[in-house]
Amino acid sequence: MAVKIIKTVREMHCAADRIRQAGLRIGLVPTMGYLHKGHLSLVRQALKVTDRIVVSIFVNPLQFGPTEDLAAYPRNLDRDLKLLDQHGVHLAYLPDQKEIYPGDFATSVRVAKLTERLCGASRPGHFEGVTTIVTKLFAAVKPHVAVFGQKDAQQTIVIQRMVRDLNLDVEIQMAPTVREADGLAMSSRNAYLSAEERREAPALYRALMVGQKMIGRGERRAQRVIEAMRDVIEPQRSAEIDYIEAVDAKNLTPVAELKDSILLAVAVRFGNARLIDNALVHIK
Ligand code: PAJ
Repeated sequence: MAVKIIKTVREMHCAADRIRQAGLRIGLVPTMGYLHKGHLSLVRQALKVTDRIVVSIFVNPLQFGPTEDLAAYPRNLDRDLKLLDQHGVHLAYLPDQKEIYPGDFATSVRVAKLTERLCGASRPGHFEGVTTIVTKLFAAVKPHVAVFGQKDAQQTIVIQRMVRDLNLDVEIQMAPTVREADGLAMSSRNAYLSAEERREAPALYRALMVGQKMIGRGERRAQRVIEAMRDVIEPQRSAEIDYIEAVDAKNLTPVAELKDSILLAVAVRFGNARLIDNALVHIK
């Protein structure tokens, strides 16, 4: 295998320093593994804009709530490494949980406000776990560019704000959502879906398309758009809606009248899987 595996922070620092000293640019794609085409599209984007690609695989306990799926989170490291190798990734950073979070770990990075909305409202502490691990990954990998997916638009927006607020020297890029043929956004958590839930799950995408079309035809009342989206998702027997929202794409605050850049965002529980999806709509 050509992909080099790095397991300690020290080794990662040395590798990053060598790449930088050679005048090359480092691209980072942070993941929790169980890779799919969505993750690999981020790799492709990173390969276009940087010289050496690091993919991190770390199932970050800090971002899972006490009742969430940390223990059940799907893993397949052998398969992941083969995929990274096939896609021309140079380094796989697989840090050890004990080194990342020693027993007396006491520091965290928190972005206020943006993290209290949408997924932050139903997953308290989640984004603090994300921003803390992503800061640690940036510190270890020293990337010039880090690529995140639009699939988790709130996460990407929160990280962009963190980088700006803390003056971190890394460029954040957002790559488009990769979907299955029927529109379902690819996600490691789709593995939890039963056959019936899998049939119903593309309703998220259909709802987003309905919302986008209404706005395209001139509807500016957020409530009308949200209701129409709800009408697509609610009839699905296994769907339990967490939220359907239309928010300002920059500060994630709900808007009554749609204008400028809007994020239509949905989170729906199907059995054990909590699925999210979104669409960015630019209104002229
Ligand atoms: P994970 O869920 O593994 O996702 C890693 C990256 O892949 C994220 O930037 C996510 O937005 C992107 N991604 C997932 N599904 C995608 C799809 N269908 N299309 C495009 N991109 C997709 O997000 C995390 O891990 C973690 O929170 C992490 C940032 C690694 C911090 O622990």
